[in-house]
Amino acid sequence: MPRYSINNQRLNQTLQELGHLGESPTGMDRVAYSPEDILGRNYSIKLMQEAGLKTRIDTAGNIIGRRTGTDDNLPAIAIGSHTDTVPKGGKYDGALGVMAAIEVIRTLEEQGHFTRHPLEVINFTNEEGTRFHRWLVGSRSMSGLLEQEDLDAVDDDGMGLGPCLADIGGDMSRINEAIRGPDELAAYLELHIEQGPYLHQSGNPIGVVTGITGRAVFEVEIEGKANHAGTTPMATRRDALVSASKLILAVQQMAAEQEICRVSTVGSIRAIPNAVNVIPGSASIGLEFRDTDMNALAAAEQELRRITDEAKVNEEVRIDVQRHRFTSSVPIAPDMQALVAEAAENCNMTWEPLASGAGHDAQAVANIAPVAMIFVPSVDGISHSMEEYSTPQDCANGTQVLLELLLLADDRF
Ligand code: GLV
Ligand code: MN
Ligand code: MN
Repeated sequence: MPRYSINNQRLNQTLQELGHLGESPTGMDRVAYSPEDILGRNYSIKLMQEAGLKTRIDTAGNIIGRRTGTDDNLPAIAIGSHTDTVPKGGKYDGALGVMAAIEVIRTLEEQGHFTRHPLEVINFTNEEGTRFHRWLVGSRSMSGLLEQEDLDAVDDDGMGLGPCLADIGGDMSRINEAIRGPDELAAYLELHIEQGPYLHQSGNPIGVVTGITGRAVFEVEIEGKANHAGTTPMATRRDALVSASKLILAVQQMAAEQEICRVSTVGSIRAIPNAVNVIPGSASIGLEFRDTDMNALAAAEQELRRITDEAKVNEEVRIDVQRHRFTSSVPIAPDMQALVAEAAENCNMTWEPLASGAGHDAQAVANIAPVAMIFVPSVDGISHSMEEYSTPQDCANGTQVLLELLLLADDRF
């Protein structure tokens, strides 16, 4: 039996209230640093304060709510996730982890239970990385994993991160002050929707996350020659978009047919000048490979470079492959997985081990603390879409296991 019961109705009410902030007919739009993101952030601050947490915003823009422990010399146990969304995203990705963390604190407050460790609820900023094409920005800032490219990143209009950080209460000039040492957090525990189909198919309410996928992201620039679409003979064209299309299919086949890596996706494309009567003179595509096996990602990169060489010769165009990001896969320690399984069993819930195909703040925090992740089912495995849905009972189940996991961690660490 779990020690205390979370409040299912209260949890789901906060999820729905948060889900109205930035809601549109085409999905959730709380892209990091937008006015809608700030509404979501402020809502989480209000709830944290109502739950008795002392809140602060670090220089990277992370929101941190703290509760004292009976032994305040111990490092804190942190729980949380993110409230930013992808454009046209869903109501549960990230949101569940933050609302659940606050519900856990509210339950402990109601029960008058003080943990030995201080507790922190963290709402990490800019997990999704939409605007500056750099992800996990808050959690990597806290974990000492920021790179110069993060600091230099500009959005599609050429604007830098500094003013955006100021808008959410951070400070670019002191961003390194957000770094926390390896002794500051005893553990970081994150509840998240699975975002894939496996729990929905198996019927198990809880996933014990075994590791988080690695990811390699590339931008491919293709230079051809713009010319008149009506007068240029087919044989002499240097159509950048035709080369891009060949690459798109080849990249898809690398995972789907050749099985070089687990998944491969071309997710963005730009044609210039993008006019129907002009042969595209240049084009760019953004693509990514994901696998927990880093050798598979290296093989995928090698194959990408080989096929772009082929496309160059065939199309008489120049193709430049830029590697943007290479995120290592992160295994979850067996003892942390065992703790999640024990928490699920204490709550009388069946579980299964699962690798995460999505990225999470936990993979960055793993650099400074032991981490554990709990997954709950995503109906039909849909995520990063307005159709993303997890049932109220699934959300409550995950929150109940998060509370039990926190209490186990407080006993054991
Ligand atoms: C983050 O949500 C990702 O996995 O792309
Ligand atoms: Mn997420
Ligand atoms: Mn996401």
